[in-house]
Amino acid sequence: MPEVRGRSGVIRKLFTNPGRTMSGAIALCRGQWYRLKYRALGRRFRAGRNFRVYGKLDVRGPGEVVFGDNVAVIEHSRPWTYTREARIVVGDNVLIGSTRFGCAQEIVVGDWCQLAESYIMDTDFHRVESDRRTSSLPPRVAPVRIGSNVWIAHYVGVLPGARIGDNSVVSFGSVCSREYPPNVILIGNPAKVAAPVPGAPAPATVTAGAPSVERSAPAHPTVLA
Ligand SMILES: CC(C)(COP(=O)(O)OP(=O)(O)OC[C@H]1O[C@@H](n2cnc3c(N)ncnc32)[C@H](O)[C@@H]1OP(=O)(O)O)[C@@H](O)C(=O)NCCC(=O)NCCS
Repeated sequence: MPEVRGRSGVIRKLFTNPGRTMSGAIALCRGQWYRLKYRALGRRFRAGRNFRVYGKLDVRGPGEVVFGDNVAVIEHSRPWTYTREARIVVGDNVLIGSTRFGCAQEIVVGDWCQLAESYIMDTDFHRVESDRRTSSLPPRVAPVRIGSNVWIAHYVGVLPGARIGDNSVVSFGSVCSREYPPNVILIGNPAKVAAPVPGAPAPATVTAGAPSVERSAPAHPTVLA
């Protein structure tokens, strides 16, 4: 959506759609407030230009959380990190709903994604062995990559090591734990390719070692304010 630039554009918007303009302005203020709050608390959170929070943002943990430009948090999102090395990197123009992130290493979300109430994690948190309560061994950790223009619907689980290709749709309740090609609709638990995304290029098969999501991973320096 093109941004209305300059004072005259803002005044025009105020007259044509005052409610929306006001809620956008409040969301911008809340975004700034969250920036200041987390800076004061020493949390490693950064967001780019035009960061808006309509709902709530709960950043926790020792790692980094980096949002690009024009990111909007619509509901109650919880990007939580569990190690100092952990990085949650969200690209530009991403809409975030009640999305939970559990990150011990790296979760990268490309530009133009829509994330609904879902859980995205790069760690299992616990080991599967029976001595999991006492074991000193670390749980499985594997980075997660979500390409650009991906729609993650409600109640989706994205598990360690998952790679979701550009333009894809992950449908309600699906669970993703492996690498998927771009331009597909994923359905089920475990998620399977159900159909191509209408209007997107024909789905290609996954090429080992060259996931399409790498191309769309946001460049870290450009997403910083
Ligand atoms: C992604 C989605 C829109 C895809 O819709 P679609 O491509 O039109 O798919 P269809 O409705 O034509 O369904 C195709 C088949 O998959 C099945 N199906 C669709 N979604 C499914 C799901 N989430 N889980 C299991 N099966 C599903 C349908 O029953 C149908 O099966 P059939 O061919 O045996 O009849 C839809 O699956 C979905 O997730 N909707 C909810 C989105 C949501 O959570 N929105 C709120 C957050 S933004």
